[in-house]
Parts: sequence; C-alpha cells; structure tokens
Amino acid sequence: MDEEILKHYNSEQGAQNYTRKFEKKWTERVNNRHEQRLLKGLIGGIAERSSLETALDLPCGYGRLLPLLKQHVPRVIEGDWSLPLLRIAREAQKSVPTQNRADGYVRATALATPFADGTFDLVLSVRLCHHIRDHSERLAYVRELLRISGQWVVFTYFDYHSLKNLLREARRKLFGVKPKWTLKASEINKIAREMGFAVDRSVPLSRLFSGHRYIVLRKNPGRG
Ligand SMILES: C[S@@+](CC[C@H](N)C(=O)[O-])C[C@H]1O[C@@H](n2cnc3c(N)ncnc32)[C@H](O)[C@@H]1O
Repeated sequence: MDEEILKHYNSEQGAQNYTRKFEKKWTERVNNRHEQRLLKGLIGGIAERSSLETALDLPCGYGRLLPLLKQHVPRVIEGDWSLPLLRIAREAQKSVPTQNRADGYVRATALATPFADGTFDLVLSVRLCHHIRDHSERLAYVRELLRISGQWVVFTYFDYHSLKNLLREARRKLFGVKPKWTLKASEINKIAREMGFAVDRSVPLSRLFSGHRYIVLRKNPGRG
C-alpha cells in the first residue's frame, strides 16, 4: 500500500475531503452517477442469478455504495482501514431507516482480512487497487478478495491495456512521468483460475476518459 495515500485517507482532513469529493464539482457528480449506474447493473445482474445473503464492502470509504448494495443484499458489512472514514460512514447511518443500514463495521486492511475462506456471497472492492504501489501486493489483494468470497467478487483496477494507461506509458518512456499502478487482465485471469473462479464480466468505466475497469468474478460451480 502506498504509505502517503493511506495516511491521507486515515487523517481527519483526508477523510472529510473524500466524503465531499463527489459533491464538489459537477464533473465528479456526473462520474459518480455514471459509476453507480454501471455498478447497479452489475450487482442487479448478479442478484438475478444468485441468492445473495451477505456482502462485504471493502473499502467502504464514507459508505457511498452502501445504499446500492442494500437494494440487493440483506446483510452488508462495511470495512475500511481509515478510522475517520468509518466514523463518518457510521454517523451517516443515524438518519437512515434501520433496514437500509449497514449490519456491521470492521477496520481491516484488504491485503489481509480477518475473515475465513468463503465468508461472503459477494465481496465488493471499489477504487482501492490503483492505490496499491507494489505489484505483488496488488496481486495478493486480488487473491485475498477471492479467498473470502464463496460466490462473487466485484472489484475495480486500473487496466494496463486501457487507452489512458497506454498514453501514460508513452509519456513515461518519453518524459519520465510516473507510471500508474495497474493490473493486466491476464494476471487476474491467472489468479481466478488458480482460485477456482472465472471472469464473468469486465467493463471499463469509460473507454476514453478512464483507465478504471470493473471486473466481476464468479466462483466455479462444483469447485471448493
Ligand atoms: C478512493 S476510496 C474508495 C472508497 C469506496 N470504495 C468508494 O468507492 O467510495 C479508497 C479507500 O481505500 C481505503 N484504504 C486504503 N488502503 C486500504 C487498505 N489497505 N485496506 C482497506 N482500505 C484501505 C481508504 O481509507 C479509502 O476509504
């Protein structure tokens, strides 16, 4: 994990900034609406095919995606490494009807969670992978998400082969700009195969303007 980024989210100021991020600018409001629509389609599609009882949202941040999860999953655990963000997420729940609230909060790092294998029907992890500096840690993170899911995993990563990253790579070679912290589809496929999962869907947030990709993985029926 990148220490500076972690420190930022784990500070009062950083937590407040992230909580307001999607309200401050109209461009962010549009991005948020677009992303929520995309995720709603993905999770709605999963819920039509499987019965989802439990989900983990890690990292949950200030709870941006909780209302969407609660539409499809009765029991949702919210987790994050940042104590200030967990506090903000919990406080926001006070004004929400009981049935729409989270069913628990946990402070955990997504690189090594305290959960047993296959604990959740759905593990959701949005906008964390691209903050993990070390390539081997990014791979370990994907393994950990798959380990604790009994059925489905949905996560985002910055795609090495996205247009945005390929342009960045060109600028890196020419001008020495910093590389993005990416993954390749082939790397995710390999881990999925090893852990008894298969890629169900892979959808870019935007083909032109974002390198982020949503990926849906399903545990292979008939395997441990
Ligand atoms: C960009 S935010 C995304 C939050 C939420 N998923 C969303 O989409 O609104 C990144 C989050 O990752 C959390 N975080 C950073 N490192 C983490 C780690 N190793 N384990 C769990 N959470 C972490 C931060 O505290 C922050 O809440």
